[in-house]
Amino acid sequence: MSTSNLKTIVHVVGARPNYMKVAPLIDALKDAPGIRQILVNTGQHYDDAMSKAFLRELGLPKPDRDLEVGSASHAVQTAKVMIGFEQVCLQDRPDLVLVVGDVNSTMAASLVAAKLMIPIAHLEAGLRSFDPAMPEEINRIVTDRLADLLLTPSADGDENLLKEGVPASKIHLVGNIMIDTLMRHLPMATLDRIRDRVPVERGAYGVMTLHRPSNVDDPVVLGRILEAVAEISRQMPIVFPVHPRTRERLKSGALGDRLANVILTEPLGYIDFLSLTSNARIIMSDSGGLQEESTALGIPHLTMRENTERPVTITHGSNRMVGTQTAAILDGYREAMAQKPDPQRRPPLWDGKTAGRVATVLQKFLNG
Ligand code: UD1
Repeated sequence: MSTSNLKTIVHVVGARPNYMKVAPLIDALKDAPGIRQILVNTGQHYDDAMSKAFLRELGLPKPDRDLEVGSASHAVQTAKVMIGFEQVCLQDRPDLVLVVGDVNSTMAASLVAAKLMIPIAHLEAGLRSFDPAMPEEINRIVTDRLADLLLTPSADGDENLLKEGVPASKIHLVGNIMIDTLMRHLPMATLDRIRDRVPVERGAYGVMTLHRPSNVDDPVVLGRILEAVAEISRQMPIVFPVHPRTRERLKSGALGDRLANVILTEPLGYIDFLSLTSNARIIMSDSGGLQEESTALGIPHLTMRENTERPVTITHGSNRMVGTQTAAILDGYREAMAQKPDPQRRPPLWDGKTAGRVATVLQKFLNG
């Protein structure tokens, strides 16, 4: 088949939580007849540990285009992705742009594609925290408003979209593609891989991550969270791979002192981090992905936020919303420790087979 007869899908990745969503899909489509795939890395995350290491480890192909936008204010970052991505679209003339998740690159690429009349597929559509102060919520709403194919991870996503007036014909419940990546790598995720850096015993430690601006940029909120973590770390070892944004905030002030008993590490690679989480007794974070991964693993998770766009992890999983008050985090911790882990509790279609379902929807759209 000549190149001109091929349908081109451009996949857009840019920040750490994107890579594990796109990897299984590129794999599922690699032998699909009549389809050419192009991978664009916007470079929103630029540290090796936050980006390139993930690309390599997850078996993603080398990106065909690197936009190298780096960090900046929301407007500057979004604008830089738009300028770079417009050139990609004009050169490669994709038949479909696939965006994932809710980061600035997701929204920026969607705006470009929409104005060039290129159809958009949004993988992880329909999630809503209903918190307009969260930059990701704005990215979700704009991206879903522009998308032609809305691929949802759970039924609450379908409900949100229908309420917003999205026609049912555009919505496809495909399940959670992150769980495909998790299930594929779980056999490799053993504590032996990381024991040189993290001396912990299976089921006898906690893992925490923290990076949301609302939690780490305000010293009062960060102080309240770290107070709870300090208390928990006196009862059980806590491992804390520190996001670059958070590392900056911990440098200033005396907040870092509360982490005296906590095992701090650099951001870990995907399999190393999965080794850590899958063997933990409890996970605490403000991350969207960890709410999902802990649910798939059946390990209790405390969400240190006031809301979640992933309610299914509470109704069908192991997640608890504890907020950011010290006492509430500690209450949540005690309740979670009294509960037995239950790996059987999982939302429907979080089964490791989402990429195949997405590939089917995309092929039908392109060839239909
Ligand atoms: C971004 C996403 C967020 C996602 C998170 C995962 C948006 C609006 N936010 O937030 O949804 O959960 O990624 O990590 O898109 N930095 C580095 N090295 C890097 C990347 C960032 O040092 O590779 C520093 C930046 O200079 C900046 C800070 O970390 O000071 C924050 O990075 P930024 O990309 O602005 O947003 P995130 O907080 O990572």
